Amino acid sequence: MKRSSLDYILRIRLPVVLFVALLSAVVTYYLSRAERDGIGYAPTQPVAFSHKLHAGTMRIDCQYCHTGVVVSPHATIPPVSTCMNCHSVARKNRPEIIALTKYYEDGKALPWKRVHRVPDFAYFNHSVHVNKGVGCVNCHGAVENMDVVSQVSEFTMAACLSCHRNAPDRLPDIAGIQKGPDNCNTCHR
Ligand code: HEC
Ligand code: HEC
Ligand code: HEC
Ligand code: HEC
Ligand code: HEC
Repeated sequence: MKRSSLDYILRIRLPVVLFVALLSAVVTYYLSRAERDGIGYAPTQPVAFSHKLHAGTMRIDCQYCHTGVVVSPHATIPPVSTCMNCHSVARKNRPEIIALTKYYEDGKALPWKRVHRVPDFAYFNHSVHVNKGVGCVNCHGAVENMDVVSQVSEFTMAACLSCHRNAPDRLPDIAGIQKGPDNCNTCHR
């Protein structure tokens, strides 16, 4: 290799390559962070189910479908049979309902895309919150106004702890609300 081309590699090429590598590392870091914080995440679902229509306009109670919220850690997503309580009659001829009915008749679960998630190594429990009066809106926002469910608050450790440590100030409408726990083993068991 000629001396001048080595010089070119060291003085121009190498710094450029390093700069690009560093830049892409920084960009990747922030993008994956945005994904983890999850705010605004609103995946398109396999059937265009609208909370605004069902929970808002029609005022169907959240618990009619999310049966786990007061009895278990998981809120649960309803099976297609819950939908068919109404849709074996209601709007039968609409394309989305025909698609829904096909899942039901084939005995297949609807592959709903998950919106909110905390990692497996952290423990979350719906019933302890809901039974103390912490409502869906405090963590999920006004779902009854959403055509497509979107994540509105962070579920990072800092966000969980921020509510736990300030619960009486954050939730002034709930009489007698205590601070939530902040010792590690309540959430990491
Ligand atoms: C008629 C049934 C039904 C009712 C009533 C209902 N939901 Fe849902 N909910 C669903 C279905 C089906 C999904 C999965 C598809 C989706 O995300 O839109 C879902 C998803 C959700 C999710 C996102 C779950 C995830 O993947 O993280 C939240 C949060 C939620 N519902 C809250 C509520 C709240 C709050 C109410 C009451 C205001 C409510 N739902 C009423 C059926 C219902
Ligand atoms: C309590 C009865 C009831 C339940 C339970 C129910 N729906 Fe509905 N749904 C309706 C009614 C009534 C309409 C029509 C409302 C209107 O257009 O005014 C509707 C409309 C819809 C539409 C829009 C159809 C169109 O194109 O006009 C979809 C999609 C839908 N429902 C999906 C679902 C899914 C998925 C579930 C189960 C998670 C479900 N529904 C549960 C009563 C129900
Ligand atoms: C204190 C905050 C908080 C409250 C209050 C809360 N949720 Fe959630 N919700 C979460 C978190 C965190 C997740 C993700 C859980 C996971 O990944 O295990 C979640 C997940 C869900 C899911 C997805 C399925 C599941 O079981 O994980 C549904 C549906 C849901 N919530 C509905 C509701 C409804 C309906 C209410 C009110 C009755 C409610 N949530 C109240 C924080 C909350
Ligand atoms: C909007 C406020 C709020 C948010 C957000 C919140 N919590 Fe809580 N949490 C509480 C309160 C208040 C209590 C205490 C209830 C009581 O015992 O009086 C509690 C209690 C708990 C408990 C105790 C359960 C038990 O067995 O006693 C766990 C575990 C927990 N929260 C986990 C979480 C996790 C994980 C997150 C974040 C993903 C979270 N919480 C977000 C308010 C919140
Ligand atoms: C109220 C519930 C809660 C408590 C209390 C809690 N954590 Fe966490 N922790 C979480 C959640 C939720 C996550 C996942 C956060 C995420 O993905 O951003 C997490 C993540 C972590 C992680 C992974 C690194 C990271 O930031 O993602 C470590 C390490 C950790 N916690 C250690 C601790 C220690 C040590 C304590 C006690 C001082 C503690 N946690 C108390 C809820 C809690």
